[in-house]
Amino acid sequence: MDFKEINGFFKSAMEVSSNSKHAKMDARMEPVPRDVLGSVTRDQGSLGEWEAAGLLSISQNKVAALLLAGGQGTRLGVSYPKGMYDVGLPSHKTLFQIQAERILKLQELAEKKHKTKCCIPWYIMTSGRTMESTRNFFSRHNYFGLNQKSVVFFQQGMLPAMDYNGKIILENKGKLSMAPDGNGGLYRALGGQGILQDMQERGIECIHVYCVDNVLVKVADPTFIGFCVEKGADCGAKVVEKTNPTEAVGVVCKVDGLYQVVEYSEITLTTAEKRSSDGRLMFNAGNVANHFFSFSFLKDVVEKYEPKLQHHVAQKKIPYVDETGQIIKPDKPNGIKMEKFVFDIFQFANSFVVFEVLREDEFSPLKNADSQDGKDNPTTARQALMSLHHRWVLTAGGHFIDGNGTRLPAIPRDDERVNPGVNRNLKDGTDLPIKCEISPLVSYGGEGLEDLVKGQELSALGLIIDERGVHQLAENVNGL
Ligand code: UTP
Repeated sequence: MDFKEINGFFKSAMEVSSNSKHAKMDARMEPVPRDVLGSVTRDQGSLGEWEAAGLLSISQNKVAALLLAGGQGTRLGVSYPKGMYDVGLPSHKTLFQIQAERILKLQELAEKKHKTKCCIPWYIMTSGRTMESTRNFFSRHNYFGLNQKSVVFFQQGMLPAMDYNGKIILENKGKLSMAPDGNGGLYRALGGQGILQDMQERGIECIHVYCVDNVLVKVADPTFIGFCVEKGADCGAKVVEKTNPTEAVGVVCKVDGLYQVVEYSEITLTTAEKRSSDGRLMFNAGNVANHFFSFSFLKDVVEKYEPKLQHHVAQKKIPYVDETGQIIKPDKPNGIKMEKFVFDIFQFANSFVVFEVLREDEFSPLKNADSQDGKDNPTTARQALMSLHHRWVLTAGGHFIDGNGTRLPAIPRDDERVNPGVNRNLKDGTDLPIKCEISPLVSYGGEGLEDLVKGQELSALGLIIDERGVHQLAENVNGL
């Protein structure tokens, strides 16, 4: 362990953190200008062209996916990596499996269109705590049908947890309390573990970086990639519209002329509430940790800019061993963890673009364990995915019927949309949320479903569409 370096990290992280507590960003901020913004709703005419450009790059083996899976998932509270979590879909697929199958499907779509074999390498960042179980999980599941050589694991760094005086905390008598160095630890790990080299050897030009916990993530999304490529961007961020001024989400914007993510706590309510002439929030580009990097930009970041990135300070309750050898679990924060963030490199981009997508189609993160009225938990993730697939079936011309054979209205009741699952226990079945899951092996983004569902009456009680066909469950699926 390089104590000199760690002391340096501590000193500058604490300095930055105490400065930012006092100085709000408001006066230095500008919203994302329209000319660098693409939108799935406002640029519908260009979506086909962008998707085609993305699929072309994929077919030429120029695109890689990079998964950030080194987090500890403390809020979810399971002892294994989050990607191995089953949110309780009818198929019981894990997050890793869903993502792997989206990659398989996308390869197939690009291959079909361009009549050539192709591969999207999948780089998976783990940490000291998640590496072994992640690797074993993939191996036990035969890499979910992917070519083993195209799944590359690497490990991010760890840093010790410190008390407020900069002393390292002991987890027990013979062990330091260590934690991964944040998802921005990516950049150091890419250089240190030969991953950049691997990308270069494979001829990768575009990299899609995303988080493990978003059940709706469009891995290596060809439309996003095509948009970034066509705009000549070296760095891009997907965003969803922030609609509520007090929502605690970071927004992508310019600060002193450079792109950055500004956290809700860094601005005043007056700024958070500002609206543009169209009535939308002025700072509404909600960051969803879903990024595009050109290979050359990523290389520059790793080789030149990484050391300039500052660690952020997260105050945490860190279990420690006291002078008598007893393990203490504090009930209020007693120290800090130091983390770099993946988006802190936006400032170095020469050509930065932003792509706005619909939250209900693309973003539902799994952060917390299930609890009453909770948010971002297994129930909301499961419902978000089934609600999306429900809409895909309707768009493809299918109809849903309840347990009595009565057709359900195409638009769910309002309370169901706002609070999915609220009517789950109604006896007559008419208000049950529709339980519909479509395997990524069948459809990546809603395409190719007409032949399977058009004009069909399908059971809302439980429907799985997978590579073997349409399976309808007459009874309510247990436990959903
Ligand atoms: P979060 O910040 O939500 O952390 O990570 P987490 O580990 O999933 O959950 P908590 O905060 O402990 O409850 C967002 C994404 O960044 C990754 C996570 O795996 C997740 O995909 N991440 C986070 C890393 O890869 N490394 C890290 O050091 C931290």
